[in-house]
Amino acid sequence: MNTIEKAKKELAAKGFLDIPVDASLDLVEEIKKLKKEKNAVLLAHYYQTKDIQDIADYLGDSLYLAQQAARTKADVIVFAGVHFMAETAKIINPGKKVLLPDLLAGCSLAESCPADRFANFKSQHPDAVVVSYINTSAAIKALTDIVCTSSNAKKVIDSIPADKQIIFAPDRNLGNYLQLQTGRDMLIWDGACTVHEAFSLEKIESLMENYPAAKLIAHPESRPVLISRSDFVGSTSALLRYVQEDDAKEYIVATEVGILHEMERRAPSKKFIPAPAETSECACSECEYMKRNTMEKLYLCLKYELPEIVVDEEIARRALVPIERMLKLS
Ligand code: 13P
Ligand code: SF4
Repeated sequence: MNTIEKAKKELAAKGFLDIPVDASLDLVEEIKKLKKEKNAVLLAHYYQTKDIQDIADYLGDSLYLAQQAARTKADVIVFAGVHFMAETAKIINPGKKVLLPDLLAGCSLAESCPADRFANFKSQHPDAVVVSYINTSAAIKALTDIVCTSSNAKKVIDSIPADKQIIFAPDRNLGNYLQLQTGRDMLIWDGACTVHEAFSLEKIESLMENYPAAKLIAHPESRPVLISRSDFVGSTSALLRYVQEDDAKEYIVATEVGILHEMERRAPSKKFIPAPAETSECACSECEYMKRNTMEKLYLCLKYELPEIVVDEEIARRALVPIERMLKLS
């Protein structure tokens, strides 16, 4: 059996390559070398570990990364993010190789919306326009009229004629927030992100007592009780812009803790305090899916060009339509 065949066997069993990596290797240099050799582009989300963020060609939120995937001339796209992000990149680029360092890097929101149940729900409202958050499977996107991310969701909802009923899936918190923002009454799927639902208001309030000048900023996937207490609510990129432009010096940040790295880089004189979760050792909230990617897996993924994202052709063809509508509107 040759090395690639061995790697494929390993992958089928685990979802990622678990081949020992020589500890003396300089992974940053090796990854850079492999990217060049293979004409690969590395896209990374703000929730990735610091080392991965630092080596990315493009670092951003889910909209920016989808836009970069649509623009790239590279032959290979390596997605340091979660499955729905890499899958979206593959749908946009059916002819390119799209790699995800760990196939088990899923998403609790995407999992909260199974396609069979959603198709049934949709069939009960045949005249409704379906807006789906990008955090969904390709099968859900194939049942969707227009995709959105947290940074363009309001714009997407506002683009739909006022007399149209809207189905919004799968995040109930983002859906509720959008209802308040747009004044639209939507049919909202009952899904949620475990990372953003985990924040403890009680612990945040006690942090606020310790840091009375700190502003509370939150991602709209957070619960309404937290959103209503927040000084600012926005997508990861909007939160980053806010902390750069705002004149406060301290912030309690209610989103996945990985974003603090970019906040500290953009606003080095400010203090960023992660919002604590109900139960967690890090006094923050970490996305276990995002954190499945490591430098070792990234290196192996580039070296063996595995695991590769594969999407059913018919589903991909249908899912591309609402993704392109979103990209055009953004
Ligand atoms: P954005 O990157 O769109 O802010 O979304 C955050 C998120 O939870 C990605 O999974
Ligand atoms: Fe999914 Fe939440 Fe993780 Fe984002 S933070 S990838 S929405 S589980």
